[in-house]
Amino acid sequence: MPIGNAFVTKDDFKTEYFYHMQVAVCRSCATLQVIDVPDPDQMFHDHYAYYASTSAFMSKHFKAMAEDIIARFVSKESPFVVEIGSNDGITLQHFANAGIPHLGVDPSSNVADAAREKGIEMLVDFFNRDTAEQIVTKHGKADVFIATNTMHHIEDINSVAAGVAKLLKPKGVMVQEDPYLGDMIEKTAFDQLYAEHMYIWSVTSLGNAFGRHGLEIFDIETNDFHGGCMRYFLCHKGAYEPTPRLKAQQEKEKALGLAKPETYDAFRRACEQSRTKLVELVRRLKSEGKRIVGYGATAKSATIINYCGLGPDDIEFICDTTPIKQQKFSPGAHIPVVPPAEFSANYPDYAVLFAWNHFTEIDAKEQAFRKNGGKWIIPVRLVEVI
Ligand code: SAH
Ligand code: TYD
Repeated sequence: MPIGNAFVTKDDFKTEYFYHMQVAVCRSCATLQVIDVPDPDQMFHDHYAYYASTSAFMSKHFKAMAEDIIARFVSKESPFVVEIGSNDGITLQHFANAGIPHLGVDPSSNVADAAREKGIEMLVDFFNRDTAEQIVTKHGKADVFIATNTMHHIEDINSVAAGVAKLLKPKGVMVQEDPYLGDMIEKTAFDQLYAEHMYIWSVTSLGNAFGRHGLEIFDIETNDFHGGCMRYFLCHKGAYEPTPRLKAQQEKEKALGLAKPETYDAFRRACEQSRTKLVELVRRLKSEGKRIVGYGATAKSATIINYCGLGPDDIEFICDTTPIKQQKFSPGAHIPVVPPAEFSANYPDYAVLFAWNHFTEIDAKEQAFRKNGGKWIIPVRLVEVI
């Protein structure tokens, strides 16, 4: 597999980096992870391709989250908020605008520059135990530590958890949100897994990982963003009372069998079935002379495209709004990435919606494609055509 966000130019084809992607689940702590991932420097750098604010829906979602956090957890006396993976400032801008002392930590300097332009204070670095110590020395301890769609990007989770334990005030709260293991399995959304998405967390596995460092989950919330996310609220052990909602989710995970190997055997079979269905569908449509393109050059799509062995003969191009991805080629399979104007200039018969997690937002703005007879191919839930 190539790196999911490593869009390439023709000059890069010969030197493109590939690694052997294997997914494993630990029998003792129920953590699901991609083992043997590339070095962090190869994935997070000065040309990182993901700009979180490209989605208006996500921007609205994180504004609401920031308002909720400010109301519930930011102290009046000496407020301080730290966010890791703060990216282009999609969330921290709301703390900056409210005049709340904050620090964003992100190793990808191009997205950090975009955050700075929004008035956000940034540390361009990898968060870990050492950076946590530096932050405490310079700024003091934090009321809130935020990590959305980030905690599954960091291999050395023990260093992060130790850092959070050092950084949080006694009643401080960590708010984490990312794609949920239960949803990934239920939707056969294996594209959630790629080099940068090396862990897919559950209440059980995250509780085990952070429990080793004196932290515990005390509450959870679910939402449908990014194909189904879990928001976890953590604190120093005993600082807050566990909620009934948390206990109910723990019971649900037992019923889902998230700690049982059989669950993952069934998931593997479903992934294989999904691959067969998608490849057969694409090849049949092509043999009928239909035009197929991709919509959304997501990192997730690298997993689907390369696992299914699809290429430019199957998928003409992938359109995407992100300038840094345009005029490049998709990782591994080298399908051209183009601006959405090319999609609307000559609508295809089918578009594989690789950004299926943004279905509502994208379908609403692509009504002309639908009126033209265009159909979406949804590559998850064992492949749907709508
Ligand atoms: N929080 C945003 C962006 C998530 S993308 C959102 O929810 O949409 C993940 C981000 O994590 C990237 O910007 C990446 O550079 C950053 N990242 C990766 N490893 C990190 C680490 N060790 N510490 C802090 N940020 C990290
Ligand atoms: P996303 O699914 O959020 O993440 P990942 O790369 O982690 O799998 O990526 C969405 C991609 O889709 C991003 O490259 C921007 C693009 N996009 C569009 O082209 N048009 C849109 O309307 C939206 C919402 C996203």
